[in-house]
Amino acid sequence: MKNKKLKKKLRVGILGATGMVGQRFISLLEKHPWFDVVVLAASSQSAGKKYEEAVRGRWCMKNSIPKKIKKITVKAVEGDFNEIVKNVDLVFSAIDMSKKKIKEVEEHYASAGIAVVSNNSAHRWTEDVPMIMPEINENHLSLVSIQRKKRGWKKGLLVVKPNCSLQSYLPVIYALKQFNPQIVSVTTLQAISGAGKTFESWPEMVDNCIPFIGGEEEKTEKEPLKILGIIKNKKIELAKNINISATCIRVSVSDGHMASVSVKFKKKPTFLQIKKAIINFKNSLAKLNLPSAPKKFIKYFSENNRPQTKLDRDYENGMGITCGRFREDKDSGWKFIALSHNTIRGAAGGAILVAELLYKKGYLSRNF
Ligand SMILES: NC(=O)c1ccc[n+]([C@@H]2O[C@H](COP(=O)([O-])OP(=O)(O)OC[C@H]3O[C@@H](n4cnc5c(N)ncnc54)[C@H](OP(=O)(O)O)[C@@H]3O)[C@@H](O)[C@H]2O)c1
Repeated sequence: MKNKKLKKKLRVGILGATGMVGQRFISLLEKHPWFDVVVLAASSQSAGKKYEEAVRGRWCMKNSIPKKIKKITVKAVEGDFNEIVKNVDLVFSAIDMSKKKIKEVEEHYASAGIAVVSNNSAHRWTEDVPMIMPEINENHLSLVSIQRKKRGWKKGLLVVKPNCSLQSYLPVIYALKQFNPQIVSVTTLQAISGAGKTFESWPEMVDNCIPFIGGEEEKTEKEPLKILGIIKNKKIELAKNINISATCIRVSVSDGHMASVSVKFKKKPTFLQIKKAIINFKNSLAKLNLPSAPKKFIKYFSENNRPQTKLDRDYENGMGITCGRFREDKDSGWKFIALSHNTIRGAAGGAILVAELLYKKGYLSRNF
């Protein structure tokens, strides 16, 4: 019975399995009903070692390494390519290499018939690659058929998820779309795990803030335009009616990205309209019963001192968004605070949810 159940699961590989996001994938997939982690891959430095040895001294999840995972021998993402693609249907990519190299590696896997769901930014602006935040733009998955046709791929595919910095505030802006949000000014307060670090590996961050995160402000400003865009002539046309300006700050927090947002609307809503729109936000995924989907996607707090990073980042197992402190701005807008878990919703959990959606929509199957 157990084997029969396992047989049905999709065989999953994690590229970058030893890193911060890779560890999060392992932890979140431990008891996944559809996905079975069978391959762990990283750099040639980790390849050949048992997983527990490869991450010795740097495993930073709260739960211990799953028993089955400990003894798996780590493969090399590039060097063991042929062996890896024979054994998996789907890979989650969280490798830290040059953008050019990541692009090549991810395309190589997809062209070998593997579904690639990536955390990396390398392919976020590739024309035929959808960037998915499932609750907002699941319809962009139709680009996969265009991608497959164009590239001659039968089973392989390449889908990315957006940057962690925008996952807290964009859902709230989206929930308020009926009021035409036009100008958004956002300051993010980002955890050190977003840089793949802990306080042990980055002691300079204890009692500190750093007012610069390379490349982050551009991603925070531009990626929402693709996510909120529409498909036209087999391409995504970027959203034109919204302007975003971002400041991204690294703060002394282990996990959880907070955002302080100011937004101006074409039709300025009242406080009650905002509250109602957020509380009644209809999650398009609700009916799909995806294992990692939060029951309630956005939580509204009326308390002045919420959301708080430490108290609220794990809302809905780290897959939900929390927001609060709605205050009227002087001009035509509102200010608010939003929060999301950067390595769960913002990285591994978000990618798993994309893969679940792909599976539910019929884009994924076992290769044999
Ligand atoms: N942390 C976050 O919250 C977050 C959120 C969204 C997206 N991301 C993106 O996800 C990726 C991974 O982030 P991370 O924070 O997990 O980084 P990380 O902790 O530094 O881990 C990097 C991973 O990449 C592997 N790697 C490095 N060089 C490699 C090579 N030449 N060939 C194959 N594998 C190689 C490492 O393997 P070894 O251990 O063998 O070196 C490790 O498994 C990055 O592109 C990052 O931008 C991170």
